[in-house]
Amino acid sequence: MADKSLKSLWGGRFTGGLDPLMQLYNASFPYDKKMYEADLQGTKVYTAGLQKLGLLTEHELSEIHRGLDLILAEWRAGEFKDVPDDEDIHTANERRLGELIGRDIAGKVHTGRSRNDQVATDMRIYVREELKVIENILKELILVFVQRAEVEIDVLMPGYTHLQRAQPIRWSHWLLSYATYLSADLQRLQQLIERVNLSPLGSGALAGHPYSIDRDFLAAGLGFGGVIPNSLTAVSDRDFVVETLFWGTLFMNHLSRFSEDLIIYSTAEFGFIDLADAYSTGSSLMPQKKNPDSLELLRGKSGRVFGSLAGFLMTLKSLPSTYDKDLQEDKEPLFDALTTVSHSISIATGVLSTLAVNKERMLAALTPDMLATDLADYLVRKGVPFRETHHISGAVVRLAEVKKCGGIDKLSLEELQSVDNRFGPDVVAEVFDYERSVERRDAIGGTAKSAVLDQVARLRATL
Ligand code: ARG
Repeated sequence: MADKSLKSLWGGRFTGGLDPLMQLYNASFPYDKKMYEADLQGTKVYTAGLQKLGLLTEHELSEIHRGLDLILAEWRAGEFKDVPDDEDIHTANERRLGELIGRDIAGKVHTGRSRNDQVATDMRIYVREELKVIENILKELILVFVQRAEVEIDVLMPGYTHLQRAQPIRWSHWLLSYATYLSADLQRLQQLIERVNLSPLGSGALAGHPYSIDRDFLAAGLGFGGVIPNSLTAVSDRDFVVETLFWGTLFMNHLSRFSEDLIIYSTAEFGFIDLADAYSTGSSLMPQKKNPDSLELLRGKSGRVFGSLAGFLMTLKSLPSTYDKDLQEDKEPLFDALTTVSHSISIATGVLSTLAVNKERMLAALTPDMLATDLADYLVRKGVPFRETHHISGAVVRLAEVKKCGGIDKLSLEELQSVDNRFGPDVVAEVFDYERSVERRDAIGGTAKSAVLDQVARLRATL
């Protein structure tokens, strides 16, 4: 009997074996083993807490820690050998500890602990560490945007609304629009890490710890910023998983929109940018094709992360308190999303730092009608109400169309004055100049050089 209960952790009250398919269906080891380090750390600190209570002797604690270090070394060397009864990472590590230091001592590590507070602890440590890595590579990506924006500040391009040419902008301004989204993502991520970083350990299965363990000591030992103040919540709360998935979803949405812009700009019709070969692929049939697969995958994978969020929210909905095995379904979507997000950041960084800008094509895509607002503003400066100047400028656009002269800038001064006699000879220099148009927009957040460089400074400050 004693032997059987050691075979599976909860085996004491069971007599029959598991249906083999049930064993597979139930096991999370194949995917939760990646949390091996967090699990070992958790047990190390937890057993230190037990020793403080007098539940372990100093000798027992040092044996346990010696064993945990050996297990860590096995994992790192790729030498950890699992057995069919390893239901999850927690049971696997504890089973191995028993083999290494003897079951009499190893059998004490779980005193007052449940896999419910253990798994919640492991997950939070694991997610915290992954998010810190993501934070760093995200900063690098933002930096690439900022550096390109500085170097290519003189490049002008059409800005779009409704995907129709609207007004001239700086290419750098477009770049920084995405850096601005990403810097909000960075801020959200930093706030998220704080909420992830709370300790459930010492909550037992649900009702709390039976030996008055010092939860603050456990939290501090694991680098947590504090404890979750209710044991029922501590074991059942997966909001940090939902938040992480939402964070990833919104972030991927930004990368997706960025990618869509670049896909459009890379077409022969636009020709604004050229993707590096490293991030493009060819067609198996059409030799001339160069496809923006990297960007299409960034766009496509945003749907995948959103799917993880939607799926896991569905799992969570209506779960009775507190721990339910449904919660084991948090791991695969979460791990998949973390991998997808971090690979996507690296790909986006590669794409952006290697693409070539075709500034002549961008300039050639600017058309005089994009200065119609500037023409209206010209008269505003002469005291004419904007609603009136808007109308007058529209009449000028129509006149140019009727005359088929090739644009409002090709009309003579007399023709302009036939629409409104307040147009003067300075209109050519004041209005029909793209650079001038861009430079006028120098208020905070605008596309003038000074305003773009101000954005650069603000973004750098967040890094
Ligand atoms: N593998 C489980 C999970 O991921 C660990 C917790 C198991 N707890 C339990 N009461 N069966 O959720």
